[in-house]
Amino acid sequence: MAEIKTLAVVGSGQMGSGIAQLGAMYGLDVWLVDIDSDALLRATKSISSSIQRFVSKSLLSQAAGSDAMRRLKCTSNLEDLHSADIIIEAIVESENVKKKLFSELDKISKASAILASNTSSISITRLASATSRPHQVIGMHFMNPPPIMKLVEIVRGADTSDETFSATKALAERFGKIVICSQDYSGFIVNRILMPMLNEAFFTLYTGVATKEDIDKGMKLGTNHPMGPLELADLIGLDVCLSIMRVLHVGLGDNKYAPCPLLVQYVDAGRLGRKRGIGVYNYQKVSEPVKP
Ligand code: NAI
Repeated sequence: MAEIKTLAVVGSGQMGSGIAQLGAMYGLDVWLVDIDSDALLRATKSISSSIQRFVSKSLLSQAAGSDAMRRLKCTSNLEDLHSADIIIEAIVESENVKKKLFSELDKISKASAILASNTSSISITRLASATSRPHQVIGMHFMNPPPIMKLVEIVRGADTSDETFSATKALAERFGKIVICSQDYSGFIVNRILMPMLNEAFFTLYTGVATKEDIDKGMKLGTNHPMGPLELADLIGLDVCLSIMRVLHVGLGDNKYAPCPLLVQYVDAGRLGRKRGIGVYNYQKVSEPVKP
């Protein structure tokens, strides 16, 4: 397979923007795509400030940081991706929406391009079935935030070729990541174990066992986790957590994966976590009381 020189990332939210940043920092030409032009603006700003943090910590030179920003191009037009060697999808966690996108990407991308998904839980085999190139479809699951977290979980669909797997693994390693491999079952490795724990933290809150602060403190100090489960759910996005629980519930067919009603209610109320300023916790700045 030819060397990967051009990366395209579809979806410029918290994951897509981080993956695009990695590509640009590691010397690839990068296209970042979103249907929402405001999301692209937010992504460019957040990539630029994250690169500046790398520069201020001397992890990247100022010149390398500027080069990375120059290699990044944003668009809302999928047709621009015709020259990409690999396209990584990071849009909403919905099988139908992702399948529609994979079918479009299959039509507009070059025949040799790899189509990868950053899905947290959805079957790669089923996403591949929306394309005419299932041997070139693969799961490339980054952790949040992608520029910092060391792990990439690679998921082979039923027909993913060895060539596609090797090229994807080599790209993750070029980004300085450590790779683990999972079979194509709902939630793969990390979210199959993590999400039921976060869901249980919601049940612990829902049934009044403890306050949100004590649940998080308990898991941080009691089990040495860097973040409490409710804080982590807010970081991931409660909508993303709920979608993953639903995939586990349906895909693994066991009621132990049923989403907690409180998680469902927060999502219904638009309390999606940090990205919306409110989730389990409130991140909106409370204005100081006016002094007389
Ligand atoms: P997000 O909600 O921050 O961003 C999604 C972006 O996709 C939005 O900007 C939206 O406008 C865009 N989008 C939606 N449909 C589109 C389409 N058809 N074409 C182009 N852009 C489209 O979501 P986030 O958190 O970045 O998640 C994205 C994917 O990454 C999901 O599949 C999620 O399961 C997965 N993931 C999420 C992690 C997390 O911690 N949030 C961790 C690892 C994977």
